[in-house]
Amino acid sequence: MAPEMIVVERHGAVGLIRLNRPKALNALCDAMMAELAEALRDFDRDPEVGAVVLTGSERAFAAGADIREMQDRRFPDTALADFIAPWEAVLTVRKPVIAAVAGFALGGGCELAMMCDTIVAAETAKFGQPEINLGIIPGAGGSQRLARAVGKAVAMDMILTGRNMDAAEALRAGLVSRVVPAERLLEEALAMGAKIAELSPAAVAMAKAAVNAAFETTLREGVRLERTMFLSLFGTAGQREGMAAFVEKRPARFPDA
Ligand code: CAA
Repeated sequence: MAPEMIVVERHGAVGLIRLNRPKALNALCDAMMAELAEALRDFDRDPEVGAVVLTGSERAFAAGADIREMQDRRFPDTALADFIAPWEAVLTVRKPVIAAVAGFALGGGCELAMMCDTIVAAETAKFGQPEINLGIIPGAGGSQRLARAVGKAVAMDMILTGRNMDAAEALRAGLVSRVVPAERLLEEALAMGAKIAELSPAAVAMAKAAVNAAFETTLREGVRLERTMFLSLFGTAGQREGMAAFVEKRPARFPDA
C-alpha cells in the first residue's frame, strides 16, 4: 500500500523519506511510524541505495510524538503495548541515515533525529525535549542520546526546563554536524548521502557500526570491535579497489558489495 503520511523518493543512490503531516507539524503518530519503518527497511534492502536522508517540512522536522494520540493512553496498557518500540526500526538500518532538520525537532522529533547517524540542520532548526511540560519525560531515547551528544549539563538544562536550542547552539554543542541556510538543507543532505553512496558499502556499514559501538560499549571493547572490522575489510573488493586506485593515481570505482 502506498504510504499516506510520508513521501518516499529516490535521488540517484540516495533514498529520501519526507515526513508529511504538515497540519500537525509532523507529529509522530503510530501510523506514520509504521510507514517510516517500512520505507527504511525497503531502502536498507535495496542494493541501489547507499544512504538515506530523513527530513520533514520547512516548518517542522517533527514536533514530537502525537499528543492527541497519547492523551488517553494509560498505564499499564502503555507497558503492555509499548508504542515507542516500533520507532527503533531506525536503529536497525545498516546504511547511514542522515536527518535533515528544518524548523521544530521537539520531543520525539529530536529523538528521531538523534536515532539517525548524523544531523544536518537548517539555520531555522530548533531542538528540544519539552516533555516535562506535559508531565512526562523523553521516551524514545532523548535522555540518553542527548546526554551523550551534548553532555550532562546542557542535557539536564534542556530536559528539566524544556527549553529549545537553536541551530547555532546545536552546532556548538555537537548535536549536529553542519548548519546550512534553509534553502540549501536538502541539497546538502543529499550531497552527503551521495558521497557516502559512492564508497565501499562494506566499509560504510562497518564505519557506522564502529562509531555506534562507541555509545554502547566500553573503550576496550569498542577498540577491539573496530580492530576486528578493520582487519576483516582486507577481505573485501572495496579495499582492493580503494588501495589500487590510490596507488595508480586514479579515482576509485567501488563495487556494490
Ligand atoms: N502532537 C500533536 N499535535 C501537534 C503536536 C504534537 N506533538 N505539535 C503540534 N501539533 C499540532 C497542534 O495541535 C496544531 O494543530 P491544530 O491546528 O489542529 O490545533 C498544529 O500542530 C500546529 O501547532 P501550533 O498551533 O501549536 O503551532 P505553533 O507554531 O503555535 O507552535 C510548537 C509550534 C511550539 C511546536 C507547538 O505546536 C508545540 O509546543 N507542540 C508540542 C511540542 C511537544 O510538546 N512535543 C513533545 C511531545 S511528547 C513526546 O514526543 C514523547 C516522546 O518523547 C516520545
